[in-house]
Amino acid sequence: MTTEQAKDRIDTLREELEAHNYRYYVEDNPSISDYDFDQLLRELQELEDKFPEFNDPSSPTRRVGGEVTRNFETVPHKYPMLSLSNTYSKEELEDYLKRIAKLVPDDMEFVCELKYDGAAIGITYRNGVLERAVTRGDGTQGDDITTNVKTIRSVPMRLRGKGYPEEFEIRGEIFMLLEGFNKLNQERMEEGLEPFANPRNTASGTLKMQDSSIVASRPLDSFLYFVLSDEAIADNHYTSMMKAREWGFKVPYPEKNYIAKAKDLDGIFDFINYWQENRHLLPFEIDGVVVKVNDYRQQEKLGSTAKSPRWAIAYKYKAEQVSTRLNSITYQVGRTGAITPVANLEPVQLAGTTVKRASLHNADQIEKLDLRVGDHVFVEKGGEIIPKVIGVDMEKRPPGLEPVQYIQHCPECNTALVRAEGEALHYCPNDMGCPPQIKGRIQHFISRKAMDIEGMGGETVELFVNEGLISNIADLYTLKKEQLLPLERLADKSAQNIIDGIEASKQIPFQRVLFGLGIRYVGETVAKKLARHFENIDQLSQASEEELVAVDEIGGRIATSVREFFTDERHIKLVERLKLYGLQMAVEKQQGGSQVLEGMTIVISGSFENYSRTEIKDLIEKHGGKNTGSVSGNTDLIVAGEGMGPSKRKKAEDLGVRIIDEQEFTQLITNA
Ligand code: IVH
Repeated sequence: MTTEQAKDRIDTLREELEAHNYRYYVEDNPSISDYDFDQLLRELQELEDKFPEFNDPSSPTRRVGGEVTRNFETVPHKYPMLSLSNTYSKEELEDYLKRIAKLVPDDMEFVCELKYDGAAIGITYRNGVLERAVTRGDGTQGDDITTNVKTIRSVPMRLRGKGYPEEFEIRGEIFMLLEGFNKLNQERMEEGLEPFANPRNTASGTLKMQDSSIVASRPLDSFLYFVLSDEAIADNHYTSMMKAREWGFKVPYPEKNYIAKAKDLDGIFDFINYWQENRHLLPFEIDGVVVKVNDYRQQEKLGSTAKSPRWAIAYKYKAEQVSTRLNSITYQVGRTGAITPVANLEPVQLAGTTVKRASLHNADQIEKLDLRVGDHVFVEKGGEIIPKVIGVDMEKRPPGLEPVQYIQHCPECNTALVRAEGEALHYCPNDMGCPPQIKGRIQHFISRKAMDIEGMGGETVELFVNEGLISNIADLYTLKKEQLLPLERLADKSAQNIIDGIEASKQIPFQRVLFGLGIRYVGETVAKKLARHFENIDQLSQASEEELVAVDEIGGRIATSVREFFTDERHIKLVERLKLYGLQMAVEKQQGGSQVLEGMTIVISGSFENYSRTEIKDLIEKHGGKNTGSVSGNTDLIVAGEGMGPSKRKKAEDLGVRIIDEQEFTQLITNA
C-alpha cells in the first residue's frame, strides 16, 4: 500500500467509524454488527500504527483511551458555569413563575428537561473538532479532562452537518448508565473491592481518573443541554438544542419526552408528573426536572444572580423511601472470602418493585446505623439493583432489641473471621477449605474475561467440586472425559465440549491467566499492567513490593496482596502445576514491527500529542524495545513528551542518556 492509498483508507475508515458511532451511541440505531465495527476499528488501528505520520488526536481509535499520568490542568471557563436554584413543590414553582412574569411581562414559553444526576461538563469545539472538555470546578475554573471525555462514545470528536459556529461551547452532564454501574459493582465485589456507592459519584470519580483506559472501560454516557456561543445560533434554547442534535450531539429526545415545551404551570406539571411516575424506567438516574425560559431575549432580560440564572429552575424529586421491618441478617461469603452482610426485610413495594433484601455493606455500617433485628428501617432505592438501608425509625423501635452481634465465624466453614487493620470487610481466611471460596475461585477462573472456558458455568463447577473431581483451578487440567460421563445431566457432547474448552484455554494470553488467578485487588486492568511490566510469571512472583509499586498506578495495597499471594507455598505449587499443563505464563512478543529498538531499555516521560502513553509503549515493544518506568543506568533512551519533569531530565543528562522527542521517535520507527 502506498502512503497515499493508506491516507485515503485511513480517512474513509475514520469517517465510517464516526458515522457508526453516531448511529450507535447517539441515535441508538446501529447499522452494523459490533463484530464488523471492531474489524473496521482494528483495520484503522493497524494502518495508524504503520503510518504514524497520519495520527490524529480526534481519530476514533483515540476513544479507546490511553494513559495520562499527569495531573489535570486547571483552566478558566470562558463563560462562568453557574448552578441552578431548586424548588421542591408546586407552590414554590408557581411563585417562581410569578416572580419572573413581573420581570418579563410578555408571553413566555418554557422548555422542560430531565435533571440528569451526574457531573457537569463544558466542551469547546473549534472548526467542528472537539478541543477541550472542562469540569465545573468552582464555576470560574475547572479541570481539563479532555482525554477522558474523548473516551465517551456519545460525545462527538468531530461534528456532522454544517452551520455550527467556528468556536462554541456546549454543556451537559456525564453520567453512568445503571446497567453498567450494577455490572461494575458486581465485578468489584467479585474482586474483593468495596462496591461504589452510587452512579453519580462513580461517574464524577471516573472522569477524574488519571488512566483514561479505565475511563474508556466504564459505561459513561452524556446528554448535552446548553449551547454557548458569541455567534447567534438560533433565537431560542429549544431550536439550538435541535441544531446541536443535527451536529451529532446527544441532546434530549423529544420523541421520548426527555424534553418538551410547556406554556404554563399546568404544562410544566404534566412533564413533572409524567417523570415522577416513570423515572424508574429510565436507563439512568435523574434527580428532578429543569425548567428553562425558551426565548434567548427573555433569558437575557432575566439575567443571573451570582450563583444561578433567573431563567431556569430545578424541580427536585424526593428520593423514594419506605419503612419496613428488618427480619434478619444473613452473611454471604464471596470468592475472596469477603463477608457481606445482607438485610432480609419484610417484603415492601418501592419504586415499582418488591424489595425483600438490602445491602448492609459491612460491620461499621451496621454499627453506624445502630441496627437491631426487629427494627423498622428506612429503605431507599436509587438506580442500584440492591436497595440501601439508610436509617432506623427509632420511634417504632420495640423495647428490648439487642444490638447486632457481627458474626465471628464463617457461616460456611466456621473458621474464625479476620479483619485487617484499615479494612472495612471481614474475611474468612480458610481459602483452601471454604466451599464458596473454592467454587468462587474456579468460577472466576473459567469466566469470560479470564480463561473463558466454554461449556462450563456455575452449575458445572458446583457439580465437579461436590463430586470431588476438582478442588482448585489446576485440577481442571487433569479432568478426563470418562470422569465426566457418569455425572448426571452431562451428555457425551457436553462432556467433550468441556474437555475441549479446557484444552483451548491453554492458549489464553498471560494477562488473562493472571487475572484468572483471582489475586485480591488484581482486576483486569491491574493484571494487564503487571503482565506488560513483568512479562512473565517468574519475574512477577519474585518482584519485591518496591518493584511492584514502581509500576504505574500500582499502589501499596495491590503490591502487598501480590506479594502475599506469591509467598504462599500453596499458590507457588498451583502456579507450577498450571505452567506444567501448558498455560501461557509469559506475554507473547509482539510480531510485525521492525527491530530497530532491539535490546533497548526505553523510558517515556510526559504526555504526547499524537500518541497515548499506551500506544507509545506498544510501539516500543513492537519494535523490539523494552519500556520501563524510571530512569537508571540501564536506560538507553528517553522519549520525552510535554511536561517531562525537570528532575527526570537532570537525572537523564547526568547519566548521559539520549533524550528524543515525539517527532524523532516517529522518524526512528518509520524509517526503520
Ligand atoms: S442547565 C446555568 N439542564 O444540574 C445552568 N442543568 O444543579 C445551566 N443538570 O450544574 C444548567 N440536568 O450539572 C441544566 N437538563 C439540565 C440539567 C442540568 C442536570 C445539572 C447541571 C447543573 C446542575 C445544577
